[in-house]
Amino acid sequence: MSVLEQKNAASELRLVGFLCNWCSYGGADTAGVGRFVQPTDLRIIRLPCSGRVNPLFIAKTLLYGADGVLVSGCHPRDCHYSDGNYYARRRMEVFKQLLSTLGIDPLRFEYTWVSASEGQRWQMVVTKFTEQIHALGPAPRLPGAPELEWLQSHAKDYKEGNL
Ligand code: FES
Repeated sequence: MSVLEQKNAASELRLVGFLCNWCSYGGADTAGVGRFVQPTDLRIIRLPCSGRVNPLFIAKTLLYGADGVLVSGCHPRDCHYSDGNYYARRRMEVFKQLLSTLGIDPLRFEYTWVSASEGQRWQMVVTKFTEQIHALGPAPRLPGAPELEWLQSHAKDYKEGNL
């Protein structure tokens, strides 16, 4: 059964996407506006630029319970901040090589480029990535690692000044 045929929320895995505001977030929006059918596992975090993605964001997300992480930004030469995605590409490429030393399957992480007009490309990217993670199954949980829900509730408390 393909991920698009799975209607049951219980069969969803926990995927996190770090998307740049100017291109990939727009591309995801375009896919939504165009009603392109896509899997619903991915939760999107919008950042100003893919160059803002610290590899620690990805490592912590994967270590704290996500089954897969996708980073997506503007195509090379299209970055709103000129060269943020070049920095991102270098970091992501090195980081991918290091993932296995953390005990994480490198297939659980991908980075890509999607422009704001590429709704159909976004549909393809998110479907392929989701299928890839479903083929791997849920990620093993580290003993003692907090769950993503726990982190979300603390992030909310932190924002509201309760911590
Ligand atoms: Fe999109 Fe830099 S603004 S990658």
